[in-house]
Amino acid sequence: MKAIVVTDQAAGTAGMKLVERPEPPAAINDVIVQIHASGFTGDELTWPSTWTDRVGRDRTPSIPGHELAGVVTALGYGTTGLSIGQRVFGLTDWYRDGTLAEYVAVEARNLTPLPGDVDFTVGAALVMPGLTAWQGLFEHGRLQAGQSVLVHGAAGAVGSMVTQLAREAGGYVIGTGRAADRQKALDFGAQEFVDLDNDALEDVGVVDLVFDVIGGDIQKRSAGLIRAGGTLVSIVGQPEARPADGLAVDFVVESDRAQLSEIVQRVRDGRLRTNIGNVATLDDAVAAFNPTERIKGKTIIRVHPRGLGDCLTPTKVQFTRRRRV
Ligand SMILES: NC(=O)c1ccc[n+]([C@@H]2O[C@H](COP(=O)([O-])OP(=O)(O)OC[C@H]3O[C@@H](n4cnc5c(N)ncnc54)[C@H](OP(=O)(O)O)[C@@H]3O)[C@@H](O)[C@H]2O)c1
Repeated sequence: MKAIVVTDQAAGTAGMKLVERPEPPAAINDVIVQIHASGFTGDELTWPSTWTDRVGRDRTPSIPGHELAGVVTALGYGTTGLSIGQRVFGLTDWYRDGTLAEYVAVEARNLTPLPGDVDFTVGAALVMPGLTAWQGLFEHGRLQAGQSVLVHGAAGAVGSMVTQLAREAGGYVIGTGRAADRQKALDFGAQEFVDLDNDALEDVGVVDLVFDVIGGDIQKRSAGLIRAGGTLVSIVGQPEARPADGLAVDFVVESDRAQLSEIVQRVRDGRLRTNIGNVATLDDAVAAFNPTERIKGKTIIRVHPRGLGDCLTPTKVQFTRRRRV
C-alpha cells in the first residue's frame, strides 16, 4: 500500500516520504480500515509516540496521522460490534502506525460508525478537534450555561469547535487569535474577539474558563483572568500557571464513541460545522504539510477520492483487496 512515513525527527514535516509499505494484518481485536480521508495534527512530529514505542524503542519508519474516516475491510479475531463494509471514523493509537496510508489497523473501540450522509472528509476533520473540544469543555472544564469562556486560537481547528460547542451549551465566548482571524472566529460564534498581537488580553476582564491551545506567556496571562472556582484547560502540555483560586488541567484527547456520535449528529442537523482549510491527495500530502502559505483550518488528505462508499459489500471488499496485492 501507499503510505507516508517519517524516519528523521530533526527533519520535521520536510522529512515525510511517500513509500510502499505492506498492508497491516488484522491482529486480535484489530479492525482493518481502508482509509478514505485522513487527518494529521501539525506538531505530531514532536510527539515521542511518533518515534518510539511505549518502552522507548525506536519504531521508525512510522506512519503519522491519527484521524480517519473510511470503510472496514477486515476484522481480527475477537473483534465485535463492527461489520466489514461499514463506514467508520475515529482516532488511532498514538503509538501505532497511523492514517496517512491506504489501510490502517485500529482497535474496534477506537472507531465509531459514520452515518451514510456524512462525507468522509467531514468525518475525518471532526475527530480530533471535536473530541478535544468536547472533553476540554465538558469533562475537564465542566462548562455550565451562562459561564464565560476565553477560547484561544478560536479560528483554528480545535478552537473553532470549542467556540461552537461552548455557544451551543449556553456559554459566552471570547475568542482570540491573529488579526486576520477576527471575522472567522466571529462567524464560528465568538461574541467578542481579542487580536493577541494588538489588543490587550487583560481587557476581557474575568472569565470562568480558559481553553488554551497556545501556551507560554498567553497562558500565564490568561490564568490571571480566571475567577475564583474557574478552570484553565490546556491542550498544549502541563500548565505553566494556575488560577489563584481555581484548577489548571492538561489533558490528551481520548477516543470516545458516544461523544463522537453526539458530535457527528450536530453536523448532520446543522449545529456544528467543520473547519477544513485544505484537501489534498495522498500523493500531494507531503507538499500539503509543507505549505508556502499559512494553513487555515484542518488539512485533510483524501486517500480514496473516488472511494467505495457504504454500499460496499464484503465480497467486493475482498475482491478489491486481492486485486491490490
Ligand atoms: N492535548 C490534546 O489532546 C490535543 C488535541 C488536539 C490538538 N492539540 C494541540 O493543540 C494545538 C492547536 O491545535 P489545532 O489543530 O487547533 O491548531 P491550529 O488549527 O493551527 O489552531 C491554532 C490557532 O491558534 C493560533 N495561534 C497560535 N499561536 C498564536 C499566537 N501566539 N497568537 C495568536 N494566535 C495564535 C493559530 O494561528 P497561526 O496558525 O497563525 O499560528 C491558529 O489559528 C496544537 O499544538 C495541537 O498539537 C492537542
